Amino acid sequence: MKYIIGNWKMNMTAGEIVNFSKALRKYKFPKHSDVMLGLAVPYVYLLGMSKMQSSMMMIGAQNVSNHDKGAYTGEISANMLADVGLDFCLVGHSERRAMFGETDEIVNQKLEKLQENELLPILCIGETLEQYDKGQTKAVLSAQLSKDLEGIDKSKQIIVAYEPVWAIGTGKSASADLIKETITFIKQELDKILGKREHIVLYGGSVNPANSAEILRNEIVDGALVGGASLDADRFIQIASSVF
Ligand code: PGA
Repeated sequence: MKYIIGNWKMNMTAGEIVNFSKALRKYKFPKHSDVMLGLAVPYVYLLGMSKMQSSMMMIGAQNVSNHDKGAYTGEISANMLADVGLDFCLVGHSERRAMFGETDEIVNQKLEKLQENELLPILCIGETLEQYDKGQTKAVLSAQLSKDLEGIDKSKQIIVAYEPVWAIGTGKSASADLIKETITFIKQELDKILGKREHIVLYGGSVNPANSAEILRNEIVDGALVGGASLDADRFIQIASSVF
């Protein structure tokens, strides 16, 4: 199974979403195709988008509060996301870590809240360009994983997305070889932290219709987290189709 998850970030209008949904509905994926689609949608459109949920399409949020409920103006709890029937939630995206002060401790708390509410967390990790240049990638990923996953319920499914910060929104995807090597490493780390089993690890960072087939061909890559290219239904479908 390959997961193709779109991350719309702070983009799209209601009108654009109608067109996107129409285009997606028109497309006939091959029956029994081994692909699971997902869209991480801005909060205000989540309820409307939940109409798109199916055995092949997950709808989720891009963020969640690390608190349960109460006087946290502007926040949305995991319980609320579960209450409206969502499937998953991104957590620890590098934009949230860099721009909104999201520490590993907060990421860990958010993950816990998602698990408590039976939502599938998609945990994003990745190194900055400076860390990459200094050869610190593995140390950074290993530290993020051990802190973010500390004390979580090992029996519940999580998805990890490896997103090198230098590849996000830059048009400069990591090479297929580097992705393979790094995801292999991440799966070994997950074996240590969560126990030996099948782990789902996606790649994210400038995935587009031109490079998706090469990235997804590798058995170790369980899918892609797609930002910019997921805003256009045709490009999103082309990326998903490169799985077949
Ligand atoms: P991008 O974003 O595909 O636009 O590089 C990926 C992400 O931030 O999840």
